[in-house]
Amino acid sequence: MTDDGSTLINLHDMEEAARERLPPMIFGYYASGAHDEITLRENRACYERIALRPRVLTDVSQRDLSTTVLGARVPVPILIAPMAFQRLAHADGELATARAAARGGWGMVLSTLSTTPVEQVRAATSATLWFQLYVFRDREMTRTLVERVESAGCSALVLTVDTPILGRRERDVRNHFHLPADVSIAHTMPGDMQRLPVLEDDSGLAAHAHRMLDPSLTWRDIEWLGSFTRLPILLKGILRADDARLAVEAGAAGIIVSNHGGRQLDTAVATIRALPEIAQAVAGRAEILIDGGVRRGTDIIKAIALGARAVLLGRPVLWGLALEGEKGVTRVMEMLRDELDLAMALCGCRSIEELSADLIATY
Ligand code: GLV
Repeated sequence: MTDDGSTLINLHDMEEAARERLPPMIFGYYASGAHDEITLRENRACYERIALRPRVLTDVSQRDLSTTVLGARVPVPILIAPMAFQRLAHADGELATARAAARGGWGMVLSTLSTTPVEQVRAATSATLWFQLYVFRDREMTRTLVERVESAGCSALVLTVDTPILGRRERDVRNHFHLPADVSIAHTMPGDMQRLPVLEDDSGLAAHAHRMLDPSLTWRDIEWLGSFTRLPILLKGILRADDARLAVEAGAAGIIVSNHGGRQLDTAVATIRALPEIAQAVAGRAEILIDGGVRRGTDIIKAIALGARAVLLGRPVLWGLALEGEKGVTRVMEMLRDELDLAMALCGCRSIEELSADLIATY
């Protein structure tokens, strides 16, 4: 039950309640996709179109949802995705998310655009913590940030590779998206870039990204990054088998099949559709994770059966955060965990290892 007495029983309910709670500019920023939001919808719709082939009579009285990601044990194959500006959702922002992650043992990825410094987030959770990295035009600044997150104790870098330029999110353009006076980016940015400009005709984040992010990034820069960090690197934003192969050749420990939650190239392929060709190309040489459109326990079964090690959950975590801070994040993660547990039982599976491709109907 929430304060107003409504019953929230799934992630869709959480979204509806958050829509009512948050100011339209903030809800719009979190919820929106690029242009016509076709990829945003397809991420979800493609999961809905996949049918499962459950096994029966397998004794599912005991079930184990745990797995490992890059060697670290996690209680469920669900990590909290990197998401910017969490203090827009709740005053405790990333700290509340990290405390929920600590309580549940859930892995979390912190955004470069965090509104809480990495050291404070690290101190708030003993669970797996990775850092999502944007490469800046200023390479020295990028290097300093990587050194900082490494000394803070993050255990992997998640390099976003689908954002040479920010996708055009029209809701943000219309809402003149910007940060309120009491919220700013916690990591060092040059000059006034810790805040976003307020523009009459554009999203402040688009202008920020244009000024800060390096659109000249190539595969050679993965080598550059690897030359000064000891951390394993995952590439987030891969949608094709050939890029997945290049990622493995460049030394990536992991690939995140992602279209940035439909926020970059509209009409880009839905992630669950891209996954099988990537899994085939990678052939176990790197770990594969996936994000985009995960809202039900059965989605996780489908992702793992098609070759992912785990999923990343994004927007629903923000809905929980907006509604109830740390408690809301816990609530969202537990809802999805419980749905996964139920779906495993009904698929006749006792462990994550038993989620194999034959569970997926092909027709
Ligand atoms: C930030 O990374 C965003 O996609 O808004």
